[in-house]
Amino acid sequence: MNISFFVNGKGIEIEVDPLDRLLDILRDELHLTGTKEGCGEGECGACTVFMNNKPVNSCLVPAMHVDGSQIVTIDGLREFDFFKKIQTSYAQNGAVQCGFCTPGFVISTINFLRENYKKTVTDDEIKNAFVGNICRCTGFEKIIAAIKELHEMNLEIPEKFYE
Ligand code: FES
Ligand code: FES
Repeated sequence: MNISFFVNGKGIEIEVDPLDRLLDILRDELHLTGTKEGCGEGECGACTVFMNNKPVNSCLVPAMHVDGSQIVTIDGLREFDFFKKIQTSYAQNGAVQCGFCTPGFVISTINFLRENYKKTVTDDEIKNAFVGNICRCTGFEKIIAAIKELHEMNLEIPEKFYE
């Protein structure tokens, strides 16, 4: 089937099998390799991207559902100022080791900061918001420390990244 959609603000038209995974379309066809594959089963969050402005596990999204959608990947967010602040905070808190989980965590972080802008949140609420992301290296606490620090900065995240 032929599908058309937007990735990082750019219109794409592509021939796919309806059951092809969004993750493979992004990495193999569009060479957006910032998005990683971990488990391939919706458990680890390494493949997280925004689909119509909500985080999804791209390993679970079939091509037929991508038609007409707006996808934003980690590769399309690097130039935003808020992204650079997230990068710095992750680095300073020791929240990145092998870096494999980081793209997924960063997408989830952006979503969390947007949803909780200027709201009071507890440490448990932060932890619960990230149960869908797994890090095998850093022990999770350092990532949570970075997210807490970023939340306290009241970073403003745009409602939409691309028109
Ligand atoms: S690779 Fe998609 S959730 Fe693990
Ligand atoms: S930094 Fe290696 S899996 Fe998280």
